[in-house]
Amino acid sequence: MQNFNYQNPVKYIFGTDTFDKIAQEIPLDKKVLLVYGGGSVQKNGILNSVKEVLKAYTTFEFSGIMPNPEFDILMEAVSFIRSNKIDYILAIGGGSVIDGVKFIAAAVHFEGNPWDIVAKNAKIDQVIPYGAVLTLPATGSEMNPYAVISRRSLNLKLAFGNPRLYAQFTINNPSVIKSLPKRQLQNSIVDAFVHVMEQYLTYDHGALLQDRFAEGILQTLIAIGKSVIDNPNDEKLAANLMWSCTMALNGLLSNGVPTDWATHTIGHELTALYGIDHAQSLALVAPNLYTVLFEAKKDKLAQYGERVWKLTGSKDERAQNAITKTSEFFQELGIPTTFSTYSNDKTMPERVIANLSDRNAFPFGENGIVSQAETKQILELCL
Ligand code: NZQ
Ligand code: ZN
Repeated sequence: MQNFNYQNPVKYIFGTDTFDKIAQEIPLDKKVLLVYGGGSVQKNGILNSVKEVLKAYTTFEFSGIMPNPEFDILMEAVSFIRSNKIDYILAIGGGSVIDGVKFIAAAVHFEGNPWDIVAKNAKIDQVIPYGAVLTLPATGSEMNPYAVISRRSLNLKLAFGNPRLYAQFTINNPSVIKSLPKRQLQNSIVDAFVHVMEQYLTYDHGALLQDRFAEGILQTLIAIGKSVIDNPNDEKLAANLMWSCTMALNGLLSNGVPTDWATHTIGHELTALYGIDHAQSLALVAPNLYTVLFEAKKDKLAQYGERVWKLTGSKDERAQNAITKTSEFFQELGIPTTFSTYSNDKTMPERVIANLSDRNAFPFGENGIVSQAETKQILELCL
């Protein structure tokens, strides 16, 4: 096992009827900006519930943080905060809104070009404190210090992270799942599943407990996946989905182990270039990436096949069938696994590789095993 430090400062408040607890977490003298997305929180009543709890506060609102949050719009929020001397932010939304708020919180007092926060992971000295009301479990953003920001004018979608960007608190109320469209529930399960795989499916590292944590989350997601899509009103399923998504990417799984993240690196390009939903991009890339990197990942694929899918047979058979099971699982959830579902652009592999080369992203993956050649093979299998 590798050395590690582990500190997660987020106060994670979980349960139904937890909206009332927001007021205990924000000092009454704060000027609070409520930040949300394209209007779902107005339709499903979450915004009104939050406003009711914050009646005694001075609040402002900024809406329109859409999926794959856009730098230009986030900069409008930064100006709004500066002009109104706001000193606390409450994100109300899914990963896009929470990620957007992380960038805003970092950019308000940043001296220099704010895009450097994203593109160069620039040092951040002062951050506006923020909390979040999670409305869509998937990304783990509610308990991690990462954000993914898009800049459409440059065809870019980039991830950054900073330990100063953890939320002070997050409200995780599984009843929000009731209002989620089917597509977002499908995305939720696949995103969390692939987050676990990125931290698990590498090579033998001797961190036995980490493997068991990972396998436990994968098995839970497999057990509840289809049922929660069909029964979003089931509180037990909703609670387990929400907690699984958080645990998949709150830093616990990566302690002491090598990580991959190649599926995300390639998937982000598919979103930037073709607007494919984040999780949908992962479902395209992941099984093909395991196929191309079969030899390097074979031991772990076989372990995954045996422990998670209960497969038997030789190591090669278990490893191979584990990839098939993964693909079938995504398809059963209703998520396509071929790029042609979204676009007929046969030049896709070249475009993705050009984007990655432009910013010197190669090689990536554990031990840098993914270079241009592997990426080309993976993307050709996706077509
Ligand atoms: O815009 P609104 O009206 O809020 O609607 C959203 C949006 O259209 C809707 N939605 C959210 N909660 C809802 C709801 N609709 C009905 N009822 C509710 N309760 O769902 C749509 C998708 O929302 P979004 O926030 O984009 O989804 P998700 O949580 O999957 O976040 C995706 C973003 O997170 C990034 C992705 O790249 C993408 O930009 N990621 C962030 C990570 C992180 N911070 O650690 C890691 C992930 O790998 C990922 O890259
Ligand atoms: Zn993800």
